[in-house]
Amino acid sequence: MQTVNLSADLRETICAWRVSGDSIAFVPTMGNLHDGHLRLMQEARRKADRVVASIFVNPSQFGPAEDFAAYPRTPGEDADKLGAAGVDLLYLPEVAEIYPDDSVNMTFVEVPGLSSDLCGKFRPGHFRGVATVVLKLFNQVRPDFAMFGEKDYQQLTVIRRMVRDLNLPVEIESVATVRESSGLAMSSRNAYLSKDERAKAALLYAGLCRAVEELERGRRDFSAIEAEQEAVLAEAGFSVDYFAIRCQSDLVIPRTGDMSLIILAAARLGATRLIDNFRVHLEFLP
Ligand code: PAF
Repeated sequence: MQTVNLSADLRETICAWRVSGDSIAFVPTMGNLHDGHLRLMQEARRKADRVVASIFVNPSQFGPAEDFAAYPRTPGEDADKLGAAGVDLLYLPEVAEIYPDDSVNMTFVEVPGLSSDLCGKFRPGHFRGVATVVLKLFNQVRPDFAMFGEKDYQQLTVIRRMVRDLNLPVEIESVATVRESSGLAMSSRNAYLSKDERAKAALLYAGLCRAVEELERGRRDFSAIEAEQEAVLAEAGFSVDYFAIRCQSDLVIPRTGDMSLIILAAARLGATRLIDNFRVHLEFLP
């Protein structure tokens, strides 16, 4: 696997692949790779002739009081994993390679509405930072395909909307969440959990499963289901940011007849913020 730090070197390699007619799949990451990331690499490998991964802990998607400084950085181990996963090229840029000097007056990408709901309410500016860095990376890599995990479903929806609205020539591929045997969704932030918190963290997924059962039993009193599950999580020691039943396609609040739903939750256990979701296709109207 080749590793490059400069976008000029990235471009040179990618141009040579393009001349040979190779297709390119891209997996942007912030590193500290786990099996969920490796599943993205596998899918990228299946999809295209060449696989490019990036590791960049993007400062613009962290709020001032968030964990940018503490975010786990393990580039050596990550490179070994990517090499073993058959990635062709690792792009490991410094901040200056992505952001120009004048970060005050720089151009940002806004995906309005969607970006200020759910996680966006609790992390103002987060999705602006995500959309901006993803577009910058797309412009540097120029991939045919880009892979994103379904665990970050709102992020996936924001990126799909940006690609559609800006006519970007890339196909967005989503890849299913990888879970631990307890049900806990894999995440780099799970490293912050203590042993006790880790055992409790799986209750978030259990709450999503219970809400799905209620919907499948025919209940459509969405707000009541949300409130019930929020209360169970609060009782177990979570500080819940939201527990929300939404439409899968655009994350708006569903009407009774909507059948393709997703339940999304974000909650804190101690200092760790966990997010998860569960998609459900209902088969009968109540
Ligand atoms: O999901 C992530 O790891 C990040 O938000 C992404 C997409 C790499 C942008 O920094």
